[in-house]
Amino acid sequence: MNFILSNNLFAENGILERIHTIIKEDGYSFPLCMVDEGFSSSEYWNTIKKNLEKEFKEFNIIEVSGKEEPSYDSLRTYLDESKNFKVDVILGIGGGSCMDVAKAVGGLLNNEGDPIEYRGFDKVVNGGIPVYLSPTTAGTGSEASFNASLVDKDSNKKLGINGINMFAKKSFLDGKTTVSCPRMPSVGASVDAIVHSMEGYICNNSNLFSDMYAETSLKLMINSILDLNSELPSLEHRLNLLKGAYLAGVVQMNSGSGVAAAISYPLSVYYKVPHGIGGGMFVLGIARFNEEKGFKKYENLYRLIEEPFAEDFLSHMEILFSKLDVPNNLSTFGIRVSEKEHICEVMKTQQPAFDQNPYKFSAEKDFPNFIGNYLS
Ligand SMILES: [Fe+2]
Repeated sequence: MNFILSNNLFAENGILERIHTIIKEDGYSFPLCMVDEGFSSSEYWNTIKKNLEKEFKEFNIIEVSGKEEPSYDSLRTYLDESKNFKVDVILGIGGGSCMDVAKAVGGLLNNEGDPIEYRGFDKVVNGGIPVYLSPTTAGTGSEASFNASLVDKDSNKKLGINGINMFAKKSFLDGKTTVSCPRMPSVGASVDAIVHSMEGYICNNSNLFSDMYAETSLKLMINSILDLNSELPSLEHRLNLLKGAYLAGVVQMNSGSGVAAAISYPLSVYYKVPHGIGGGMFVLGIARFNEEKGFKKYENLYRLIEEPFAEDFLSHMEILFSKLDVPNNLSTFGIRVSEKEHICEVMKTQQPAFDQNPYKFSAEKDFPNFIGNYLS
């Protein structure tokens, strides 16, 4: 068994109002802020920015697009832009894409060569510029993990820059950063985190330590996620969601992912189905598939629900996801039954990931029946 963990975490609502002081006290003078373009128009960012401007003579900002997953091409552009500035610390504030870009820029600023040469695991051998991260959605858990997810557009493959030198030096969870994000992207991000913990909990690589993290992550997220439906956000629930997503990031880094995440990936590449929502559409169907084979582990989670909507864990989750408007048919994304053959064909590449499931789920035999339930 192997369990990796390396981070210095601060979780407190409002902590980013003091980030300028923290950076100064840590001995840095030239912060580069990589901020998600969505968050950059928020009032909270305005406050943080003003504080940083007052504290530092040389303070620079790069806005990072959160619209599509970062690629090696976009990373190259951000890296070139960063080289124009004097930088001794990077502060990444945003969703998963923005944090991944901030980690990759931090990792590569002190390393020669093209980003694509660092694709894989532990290719970044020289420590880079320290990176501080603060997520604005409770989602990927990039602030907890050593992965920077990047797409290689030439091969349409997702293989990022990963490894022991890719951890953020400090992470800051602050519920105030999440309130400006619109509802559906927030739901997609948090459902993604729930998928990370649910699949990490049952996949073949799960172990005592990852299970402990997965259970606490799910407890925090399941009992707080309906805050995304309320008009007035509760900062306590928002902070719980961020803590849950952080723990889910640790689970995913250590246990890997499962069938639902693996199905979601080609659908996001070929049909633009958002990654988190895609995983959420299938995770409960896969859980039912396993349940029919006699798998019981999910029911350990029922005791974690504070206000159950049903008599068992999976039924509770089905009601919860419908309250969050997680779709259950691919027609929501314009995908019709006529696409079934193509989807089944591209899904054959996912068999190694499907093999993480505790029961055999065959891309050739089981997937066509399974996906038929989501097509009309
Ligand atoms: Fe994910």
